[in-house]
Amino acid sequence: MPGLSSYLVSALSLASVALASPIAKAQLVGRDTSLLASYDYVIVGGGTSGLIVADRLTENSSKTVLVIESGNLDDQEDEVLVPGMAGGTGKKYMYNMTCIPQKNINNRTYSLLAAHVVGGGTVVNGMFFDRGSRGDYDLWEALGNPGWGWNGIYPYFKKSETFSPPDKALADEFNITYDPSAHGYQGVIKSSFPKFQYQAVKDWFKAFKQIGIPIPKDGANGDAIGAFWVSNSLDNDNQTRSYARRYYEEAKKRSNYHLITGKTVTKLVLSGTTVTGVEFAGSATETATKVSAKKEVVLAAGTAHTPQLLQLAGIGPKKLLESLGIKVVVDLPGVGSNFQDHPVLYFSGSFSNDYPINPALLTSNATYAAEQLALYRTKREGPYTISRGNSVAFNTLPQLSSQSIANNLMQKALSQNPADFYPAGTDSTILEGHKRQTELLANYISSGRVAIQEIAFGGSAGGGNGLEKPFSRGSININSTDPWAAPVVDYGVMSNPVDMDMMVQLIRFVWRLYDTPALQALGAKALTPDPANDSDEAIKAAIRATLTPTFAHPSSTCSMMRREYGGVVDSTLKVYGMKNLSIVDASLIPMTPATHIQSTVYAVAEKAADIIKSRQ
Ligand SMILES: Cc1cc2nc3c(=O)[nH]c(=O)nc-3n(C[C@H](O)[C@H](O)[C@H](O)COP(=O)(O)OP(=O)(O)OC[C@H]3O[C@@H](n4cnc5c(N)ncnc54)[C@H](O)[C@@H]3O)c2cc1C
Ligand SMILES: *[C@@H]1O[C@H](CO)[C@@H](O)[C@H](O)[C@H]1NC(C)=O
Ligand SMILES: *[C@@H]1O[C@H](CO)[C@@H](O)[C@H](O)[C@H]1NC(C)=O
Ligand SMILES: *[C@@H]1O[C@H](CO)[C@@H](O)[C@H](O)[C@H]1NC(C)=O
Ligand SMILES: *[C@@H]1O[C@H](CO)[C@@H](O)[C@H](O)[C@H]1NC(C)=O
Ligand SMILES: *[C@@H]1O[C@H](CO)[C@@H](O)[C@H](O)[C@H]1NC(C)=O
Ligand SMILES: *[C@@H]1O[C@H](CO)[C@@H](O)[C@H](O)[C@H]1NC(C)=O
Ligand SMILES: *[C@@H]1O[C@H](CO)[C@@H](O)[C@H](O)[C@H]1NC(C)=O
Ligand SMILES: *[C@@H]1O[C@H](CO)[C@@H](O)[C@H](O)[C@H]1NC(C)=O
Ligand SMILES: *[C@@H]1O[C@H](CO)[C@@H](O)[C@H](O)[C@H]1NC(C)=O
Repeated sequence: MPGLSSYLVSALSLASVALASPIAKAQLVGRDTSLLASYDYVIVGGGTSGLIVADRLTENSSKTVLVIESGNLDDQEDEVLVPGMAGGTGKKYMYNMTCIPQKNINNRTYSLLAAHVVGGGTVVNGMFFDRGSRGDYDLWEALGNPGWGWNGIYPYFKKSETFSPPDKALADEFNITYDPSAHGYQGVIKSSFPKFQYQAVKDWFKAFKQIGIPIPKDGANGDAIGAFWVSNSLDNDNQTRSYARRYYEEAKKRSNYHLITGKTVTKLVLSGTTVTGVEFAGSATETATKVSAKKEVVLAAGTAHTPQLLQLAGIGPKKLLESLGIKVVVDLPGVGSNFQDHPVLYFSGSFSNDYPINPALLTSNATYAAEQLALYRTKREGPYTISRGNSVAFNTLPQLSSQSIANNLMQKALSQNPADFYPAGTDSTILEGHKRQTELLANYISSGRVAIQEIAFGGSAGGGNGLEKPFSRGSININSTDPWAAPVVDYGVMSNPVDMDMMVQLIRFVWRLYDTPALQALGAKALTPDPANDSDEAIKAAIRATLTPTFAHPSSTCSMMRREYGGVVDSTLKVYGMKNLSIVDASLIPMTPATHIQSTVYAVAEKAADIIKSRQ
């Protein structure tokens, strides 16, 4: 990662608490304050989860915290702040990683979407701010994680949020309902609604109703099943992105808080099985700096890089480590496995009788787009207040197909042999964990306790058809001892034929949705996948040809599970077999929830901070 400038960002000097030997002054570009030789906590990664935990730990002024972030602060450009331009920064704040050819989707490859900037994924994401349903988190608890079910995590969703209700006129017109008691009002992240919606969203809601999908009042209270409205991570005061950087801004004046940017942690420093600190550098050629952690090193480097750092340190699957000549410190087979995301098949269609004002206009009519951007700049109104949309449907398998299809597919999953999905010689704990996850998933899916489908709809004819509860598992493993080399990403997408079967049902459901009176009134016609090609085999061919393996929700490579299930951290987030080492990012999610995952990451990290504090 060449050419990254680096600077220590801190409002006040830490001199008062500094220990005797300030180090690495030369690296603190433009700052007069010094890096300490040791901190109570060293947090690796100043992305979403890292900044939350740093904020909470520094609430106690007697605790010193250093956050080391590989990327830099964002430039607060329009493409970060203006919802209608979300994601417009392209690769500027991203790693450039690609998966290996995915053999079940015609050997196609795809990016791994991992952010590289202070604030992490929340700087570049689509701003959906929804939660999974009760069942999504109860599954975590059922895997052997006391306190991590819905009741345990619900208060932390609220803790991270300051909710503003939608404007009354818009809410009345569009039936935007919400449950005030489900939301938080004192959190760092602002959650609110745009000032504009497209008319066709109403017809989509009608279509879901006509086809028998429930319309809950709000998904945020655990009832995230059916078609409902979701807020965005959006500041209602000025209709700009609200993101994890705000956690830093609120806390940065604290003299016990240091953030260093443009520096990559290259090594965990160990003394036996205790982590005592880390080494970091600005590039492969720069001499590494060492810093100690008196209490804990907290890994928040994200789903791709947290397992990388563990494996480089000799904490991981013994066979892999030995093949690379890395001394095994703890044989922990689950590091890098259980990788999940939400595969998505984008479908296209047309409305022959569409409304004159529709989402396509912003790209097709430059005059209109310029007018609307001016409206945004002057009044904070109009379509530029929308990021990726606010209406979603999360449907269960019995709802979107039938109870008997659901039962048959889950029976098929239960009859599988886990070993068929892993390389020969895979550790038995991984297979045991796969078996346990399959049993739980089959139960929750067939009983309709969790959704397996997401359709996000914003007023266009097309959209994304996401598989929310995949049985397939991938991996992210190092293949080099070089900390600057990207790990090998294998989504393992559609490696389980039950996922293929569920995806077929997802597509048939969208075709039926197009046939509802509500969408027919708009002249809806499905284009791709083509309903003329409606045999299971033809649909599967379309899936292989067009499926995207990710919805930018990578997770689970260092899962919180029992060690006998291939887990990496216990329910207090400590890495098995190690001392003074914990994980707080999306890699710990044991099973991906049926939702966009940022608000889950916020809640997990808020809870993680309380757990770490309670260890003192
Ligand atoms: C393009 C995109 C769109 C998304 N859209 C949505 C959405 O609309 N709604 C939603 O809910 N979720 C969305 N998500 C997902 C959500 O934003 C992420 O799941 C979440 O931000 C992940 O948080 P994290 O703390 O696990 O990791 P991150 O936020 O990725 O933080 C990890 C940080 O660690 C740093 N790092 C890595 N290795 C090192 C190292 N060795 N040394 C130092 N630093 C290191 C990285 O630079 C990064 O900043 C999206 C994500 C992306 C990428
Ligand atoms: C802050 O940390 C100190 C030292 O560990 C501890 O004694 C004190 O109770 C903590 N304060 C709070 C408010 O938790
Ligand atoms: C990825 O590539 C872009 C340019 O396309 C660059 O700006 C960015 O720094 C790269 N990311 C990393 C982590 O190297
Ligand atoms: C994918 O690649 C593998 C290995 O190169 C090859 O055996 C297989 O036939 C390819 N599959 C397709 C569908 O091209
Ligand atoms: C409006 O929302 C409520 C849920 O709060 C739902 O019951 C009702 O069906 C919705 N009405 C329409 C027309 O979608
Ligand atoms: C938006 O308002 C918040 C306060 O709610 C403020 O912190 C932020 O800087 C503002 N952003 C812009 C771009 O004006
Ligand atoms: C590990 O953490 C404990 C508790 O915070 C602390 O007492 C101990 O000194 C740490 N060990 C090392 C080697 O840093
Ligand atoms: C484009 O938008 C402008 C301004 O809203 C409008 O006057 C014009 O009719 C539109 N043109 C087309 C072709 O729709
Ligand atoms: C490691 O994997 C990458 C692909 O991610 C590949 O380009 C590289 O050749 C591999 N290196 C080794 C040593 O296998
Ligand atoms: C069906 O799909 C096949 C490719 O799988 C294609 O060749 C054929 O033209 C399609 N038929 C129709 C009616 O679209």
